[in-house]
Amino acid sequence: MSSVLRPELAEAVTRLRAAGCVFAEEEAAVLDEAATSVAELAELVRRRAEGEPLEQVVGYADFCGIRVRLRPGVFVPRLRSELLVRLATTQAATAAGGIVVDLCCGSGALGLAVRTATPQIELHAADSDPVAVACAGENLGSNVYRGDLFEALPGELRGRVGILLANVPYVATRHIPFLPAEARLHEPHTALDGGPDGLDVFRAVVGAAAEWLGPGGVLLSELTEDQIGPAVAAVRAAGLDPATHTDEELAATVVTATRGRR
Ligand SMILES: C[S@@+](CC[C@H](N)C(=O)[O-])C[C@H]1O[C@@H](n2cnc3c(N)ncnc32)[C@H](O)[C@@H]1O
Repeated sequence: MSSVLRPELAEAVTRLRAAGCVFAEEEAAVLDEAATSVAELAELVRRRAEGEPLEQVVGYADFCGIRVRLRPGVFVPRLRSELLVRLATTQAATAAGGIVVDLCCGSGALGLAVRTATPQIELHAADSDPVAVACAGENLGSNVYRGDLFEALPGELRGRVGILLANVPYVATRHIPFLPAEARLHEPHTALDGGPDGLDVFRAVVGAAAEWLGPGGVLLSELTEDQIGPAVAAVRAAGLDPATHTDEELAATVVTATRGRR
C-alpha cells in the first residue's frame, strides 16, 4: 500500500480502526479491491465495521490456496480445516471408486479444495441449509444436495463412498456465548452448535457412516482435543476403526473412522 492513501481509502482505514479491526489497513485494501465504486466501498466498510466477517462482506474466502465464493449467512471456512483437506487429499486418490462426499458442506470449500488437488475424484456435497447449498452450488457446479445429513445423498452412493468429509458443527452449546461475535452473529447457529457436548451431529454421522462408506472408506471430522475420548468411543461403537490426527500449528484435531475392507 502506498504511503499516501486515496481519501476514501484513508477514511476506510480510519473507520475500520475505530471499529476495532486489528488489521485495518490490510482489510481496507481487500474491501477496496472488492468495491467497484466509492459508494460501494463505503457500504462494504460499513458492513465490516458493524462486525460482519470480511469474507462474507467481499463474497469470497481464500482457503487452501483457492478462492471460494461466500455469501452472508454461510460458515466461513477456517484455516484449521486445512488439516482435514490434507488428510482427505492424501487418501482421495486411492479411495474406493474415487467417490468423495463433503457432508455438512457449507460453502463447499473442503470438497472444492480436495477436488482441486485430486481432479479425478467424483465429488458430492450436501448441507441442510438452503443458503449454504446455493453457495456450494456456485462453487462446485453439480452434485450438491439439500437435506438432513445422509438423507440428502443419492441412494446409489450407499456403500460406495471412499472419503466422507464431515466438518460437522461441534461447539458445545454452553460454549456458544464465548465464540467471537463474528461467528455468533453472522454464522447460522446450526453451523456451530453441536449440542450439550458438541458431539450430537458427529454421533449421528458416525452412526450411519458404515452404511455409506465403501470397503476401506474413511470418515474424517474435525473436533476439539477434549472431544477425542467420546468421539473415538462412538467410532468403535459404530464398528469402525478410529484414529486421530493433530496439527499444532493449525490448532487442529481430526478424528477418522475407517470401514474394514470386508
Ligand atoms: C462447521 S460448518 C462447516 C461448513 C464447511 N464444511 C466448512 O468447513 O467450511 C457445519 C455445516 O453443517 C451444516 N449442518 C448442520 N446440521 C446439519 C444436518 N443435520 N444436515 C446437514 N447439514 C448440517 C450447517 O448448515 C453448516 O453449513
